Amino acid sequence: MSGEKILEINNMHVHYGSIHAIHGINLHINRGEIVTILGSNGAGKTTTLHTISGLLQPSEGEISFKGQSIKNLEAHKIVAQGMAHSPEGRMVFPDLTVKENLEMGAYLRNDKDQIAKDFRYMFDLFPRLEERKSQLAGTLSGGEQQMLAIARAYMSKPELLLLDEPSLGIAPILVQAIFSAIKEINEKQKMTILLVEQNAYAALKIAHRGYVLTTGEISMQGAAKDLISNEEIRKAYLGH
Ligand SMILES: Nc1ncnc2c1ncn2[C@@H]1O[C@H](COP(=O)(O)OP(=O)(O)OP(=O)(O)O)[C@@H](O)[C@H]1O
Ligand SMILES: [Mg+2]
Repeated sequence: MSGEKILEINNMHVHYGSIHAIHGINLHINRGEIVTILGSNGAGKTTTLHTISGLLQPSEGEISFKGQSIKNLEAHKIVAQGMAHSPEGRMVFPDLTVKENLEMGAYLRNDKDQIAKDFRYMFDLFPRLEERKSQLAGTLSGGEQQMLAIARAYMSKPELLLLDEPSLGIAPILVQAIFSAIKEINEKQKMTILLVEQNAYAALKIAHRGYVLTTGEISMQGAAKDLISNEEIRKAYLGH
């Protein structure tokens, strides 16, 4: 880990009209890390990710990516700078095949040989996707669509990959496959990952550091290994 801050958020506020959803949060991600944002329903996790990726504008504060402000940049320009977002609720293109969805992920790239290698890599990581590569994405199971959403975001080869609740509504056996794929992408491809999750245990097991978001504020932060043994976190998120 180089220690370079790939993402830095200072005093970020986000409003939806008169609703104050994010109340001045500070957060950073070092290159090479998996950082997780935990929090219950409505805490502001998705809002935070949408603001980082340029889908929402902060009402106050700063966001910088690789040392440059991205606060007022449009989402597609942020993608071009090397950030990809796998949104909550999977959001694959339902009328395109699995293969076409992955091609869409790579549409800004022109390194053909490497794209072919990345297809191979995603199919090795998610064999179910290879078996279903000609199937329309809208007919995949929820867990398979989630794998596709992650793989599609991966195919843009981002420097920072944002994942919004990859385990949502998915059977435990697939959750395990998805989390080990995320860990492998981080370790083998050195990809930096911001992982938003309600499944605190699974997320903390693969993350380096974590933040807990409580009604729009960061209530706790630290090394994942400390958070996982923290009494308050165990009570609030780990079910004991
Ligand atoms: N488009 C919107 N208009 C108004 N309020 C919104 C909008 N989107 C989100 N909110 C509100 O902002 C707050 C944070 O929502 P957000 O979706 O970021 O939470 P979350 O932590 O991702 O929750 P979940 O775990 O349920 O996905 C909630 O109170 C929500 O009702
Ligand atoms: Mg959400």
